[in-house]
Amino acid sequence: MIATTAAELAAIVNGRLAAGLDSELVIAGKVEFDSRRLNEGDVFLAVKGEHVDGHDFAAAAVAAGAACVLATRELDVPCIVVADPIVAITALATTMAARLPATVIELTGSSGKTSTKDLLAQVLSRQGRTVAPPESFNNELGFPYTVLLADASTQFLVLEASARGIGHIRQLTRIAHPAIAAVLNIGSAHLGEFGSVAAIALAKGELVEALTADGIAVLNADDPMVMKLAARTEARIVTFGEHQSADVRAESVRIDSTGRATFWLSAAGQRAEVQLQVLGEHQVSNALAAAAVAAELGMSLAEIAAGLSSATARSHWRMEVTEAAGVTVINDAYNANPESMRAALKSLAIISEGRRSVAVLGEMAELGAESLTAHDAIGRLAVRLNVNDLIAVGSAARPIANGAELEGSWNGEARWVADNETALSQLLDVLEPGDVVLVKGSRSANMQRIAQALVTELQARA
Ligand SMILES: Nc1ncnc2c1ncn2[C@@H]1O[C@H](COP(=O)(O)OP(=O)(O)O)[C@@H](O)[C@H]1O
Ligand SMILES: [Mg+2]
Repeated sequence: MIATTAAELAAIVNGRLAAGLDSELVIAGKVEFDSRRLNEGDVFLAVKGEHVDGHDFAAAAVAAGAACVLATRELDVPCIVVADPIVAITALATTMAARLPATVIELTGSSGKTSTKDLLAQVLSRQGRTVAPPESFNNELGFPYTVLLADASTQFLVLEASARGIGHIRQLTRIAHPAIAAVLNIGSAHLGEFGSVAAIALAKGELVEALTADGIAVLNADDPMVMKLAARTEARIVTFGEHQSADVRAESVRIDSTGRATFWLSAAGQRAEVQLQVLGEHQVSNALAAAAVAAELGMSLAEIAAGLSSATARSHWRMEVTEAAGVTVINDAYNANPESMRAALKSLAIISEGRRSVAVLGEMAELGAESLTAHDAIGRLAVRLNVNDLIAVGSAARPIANGAELEGSWNGEARWVADNETALSQLLDVLEPGDVVLVKGSRSANMQRIAQALVTELQARA
C-alpha cells in the first residue's frame, strides 16, 4: 500500500496502538491475513475464521517480519487493536484507494470474472505496472485486500467484484471508485440467494451506477440483460461481443481441435488476429471484454492481440487440461452454474471429436427453485452434444442423469453415483487411452479431488 506511519494507520482504522508499536514506524507493505503469504514489512490482519483464528498466528507473523498486527484484542506483539478486522481493512483500503494514482478497472458478471481478470492483467502488464487479485479475491475481504496490493507505482488496478445480494457491489465500489467498469454477463450464478435473474441484474448494475460521467461502462453486446444496464449509468458506453453492433468485435471465430479459439479482433476499423492459449469458446467473450478495456486505456489493437494470444490460465481448476496415460483430463471443477456447464460441455464435445468423451458432473449449487430444471437441462444437453458417457455425482446432481435418460435416443450411458469416491473408481474401470474426461461441479462439490486423484492414478498405471 502507499506508505504511512503506524499512528496514521491506527487513526484510519479507528484503532488503538498497543504493545510498544512505534507510532512513527513507516509501513508500506500489504495487509495479509494468510501467514503463509506474509512478506517482510506487511501488516498481519488477524481474522477469526471458521477453523482457525488468525490471532493464534500473530506472534509467528511478527517473527516472520510483519511490521505489526491488526487484531481485535491486545497481544504481546506490536499491534493496533480494532473492533472488527473487515471494517478495518475496508477503511484502510478506502483511504489508500483515494491516494492511488492508478486507473481503477472493476469487473463483474455471473461467469468469467476471474478468467477475464487474468487475461486483462496479462494484457495491461505490457502497457504499465498492473495489480490484479490473486486467485478469485472478489468479496468484502478479497476486494480491499487487492486494493492494498497497489502502491504509488501502480498504473492499472484491476478488481473483481462479486455479489451474493443487493448492495454488495455498491459497497465494494465505495472502497475503490472505478474509472472503467465492465459487466461480462448476467446469468444464474447464486440464483438461490437472489431469487430471480432480474434481482441479479439489479445487483450487477450497481457497478456501472458507480461510474461518473467521465467513466466508461464496458458492456456485453451479446447479452440483452447486460445491455439494459446502459440506462443506469452516466458514463460513456463501450460494447464488446460478436454482435454486429459491438464496438469491439470478434469476427470469424474458429475453435481448433484442442478447444482453443482463433478470431479477428476488430475495432474502430482495424483488425488483428488473436490465437488464444486459454481453453474454451467462452474465452472469446472474456477476451473481448479485456480488449475493450485495454483499447480504452490507449493500447493498440496489435498490442492487445499479442497480449491475449500469449496469455495463459493463471487460476487453477478452470478448464485445466492434463494428459495422463493417454487420457485427456479436463479439470473445470472450480465452480459451476448452468452457463458455465454449457460452455464446458461444448468444449468437451469439440476437444473429444473422434474420441470417446466422458462427463463427470456434480451439483450446480445455489440455484434455489430452479435447481431441478437446470440440472435436468444439463443432462439433456450432454445427450445432444453426443457425450458418450455421463456420470452425475451427488444427490443434487441426480436430475442430470434423469434428464439424459429422458432425452433418450442415445448410444451412450448415463448413471448416477452418490459420491466422489464412487465416481473415481468407476472412471478408473472404464477409462482407456484416447478418452477425454471433463470433471465439473460447484465449489462445494469438491470435484477437483476426482480430477486430481484420477491424474495420479492414471499416471501410476502408465
Ligand atoms: N464468459 C463466460 N461464459 C460462460 N461461462 C464461462 C465464461 N467464462 C468462464 N466460464 C466458465 O465459468 C467457470 C468459472 O470461470 P471464472 O472465470 O472463475 O468465473 P467467475 O470468477 O465469474 O466465477 C469456468 O471454468 C468456465 O467453465
Ligand atoms: Mg472468480
